[in-house]
Amino acid sequence: MKVDVLLGLQWGDEGKGKIVDYLAPQYQVVARFQGGPNAGHTLEFDGIKHVLHQIPSGIFRDNIKNLIGNGVVLDPVVLKKEIEALEKYHLDVKKNLYISRRTQLILPTHRLLDVAYEQAKGVDKIGSTLRGIGPAYQDKIGRTGLRIGDILEKDFPSRYAKLSARHEEALQGLKFDFDGEPLKKEFFDAVDMLRNYNIVDGEYFIDEELKKGMHIIAEGAQGSMLDVDMGSYPFVTSSNTTAAGAATGLGIAPSRIGNVMGIFKAYCTRVGSGPFPTELSDESGSLLRESGKEYGATTGRPRRCGWLDIPSLKYTIMLNGVNRMFMMKADVLSNFDVIYVCTHYKLPDGTITQKVPAMNIKVEPVLKPFKSWKKIPSGAAQFDDLPEELLQYIRFLEGEFDVPIQLVSLGPDRRSTIIRNEQFITG
Ligand code: GDP
Ligand code: IMO
Ligand code: MG
Repeated sequence: MKVDVLLGLQWGDEGKGKIVDYLAPQYQVVARFQGGPNAGHTLEFDGIKHVLHQIPSGIFRDNIKNLIGNGVVLDPVVLKKEIEALEKYHLDVKKNLYISRRTQLILPTHRLLDVAYEQAKGVDKIGSTLRGIGPAYQDKIGRTGLRIGDILEKDFPSRYAKLSARHEEALQGLKFDFDGEPLKKEFFDAVDMLRNYNIVDGEYFIDEELKKGMHIIAEGAQGSMLDVDMGSYPFVTSSNTTAAGAATGLGIAPSRIGNVMGIFKAYCTRVGSGPFPTELSDESGSLLRESGKEYGATTGRPRRCGWLDIPSLKYTIMLNGVNRMFMMKADVLSNFDVIYVCTHYKLPDGTITQKVPAMNIKVEPVLKPFKSWKKIPSGAAQFDDLPEELLQYIRFLEGEFDVPIQLVSLGPDRRSTIIRNEQFITG
């Protein structure tokens, strides 16, 4: 057996949560491999909207194991709140949630440092979600971090004190005022709760599940254009959001990665700073934002909106080895008469290219118009029932990507999902 990977091909918020929840019955394990509470994955069914930050999106399905892998940075305080918010749905979170012993911890002082560093950057700020992601990964790479396994050790309080004292010193250097005591109490309350959860050796857990013949899906967070290596550095997150991250973030060999499912919106959005070639600062941008309800699931910030960007998608398909694609939010474009896609970039020297520049130089999008579809069918429709204009859009994109679009999403609800062929997961 192999581990399938589902990941976002743009700048995050492509609809990963919806689709992982939708596909979950085909899998026995759902695993997060990177990121942390910066993620906001929305699931909607039975008229209720849920937003998950750290818990994998298989949690609402019976008998599915949900693993938080070693590549994640986990905030116990956020996790406790997430678990409490799920209590009223009577899910067996304690039974179905597993956390790798190697998962790094986000301390309250990581969160404060995130705020202090962003403030210090002024106009150059990244637009971080301020959830402590960058500082926690800094400690991981700097080999000073604390891991979930540490909370089971007797001397955890002194390890915590040592690391947080270092953070406090840095915060004082940045002249950042804070009251650490209530934050520390909240953190230790959450850690006390966590000790009673399934803390496992994630790499062996995955290996054993694969050997038992179980199907596993790795759920990406953020999007490939936010990858720390391959994204628009420094306007990125601090982890490898691409398929390679699933190998290191779960402790699986690259040869054990199976299908790579790439998910993208029929247009583009981005939250935070950084290049966005197709960004629309006009009425079309506002129409996309309002009709797509493009406000952050974690921070509530308005998302920047723009037309679909083919060069960046070709780039992320290449980086990830995507072999099937899912198109989200096609319904939103039905609010337009004419839509555009960016087929190429024009560089400052006039060169036309489909390659994404490694340095953040300003590129101009070369746009191709398409007639939009004015009506969308209900979720019960078949792929071939999609409006001809939408099918034309799909055929054009498939020609560009050389990868089939296997699923089209037409609304936030689980049911508003049209798949091309029932066999596409295992096929
Ligand atoms: P994620 O981070 O990739 O899981 O995506 P988010 O949850 O942050 O953002 C996606 C948003 O779009 C959520 O509000 C979803 O409920 C919503 N959504 C997902 N698919 C569709 C769709 O096909 N149409 C519409 N209109 N909304 C969708
Ligand atoms: P999901 O999983 C969209 C963005 C932030 C910021 C940059 C760095 O819901 O798709 P960080 O908090 O990681 O230091 O922020 O990355 N960002 C996201 N944008 N969706 C996300 O997650 C994101 N997680 C981080 O807005 O620009
Ligand atoms: Mg999101």
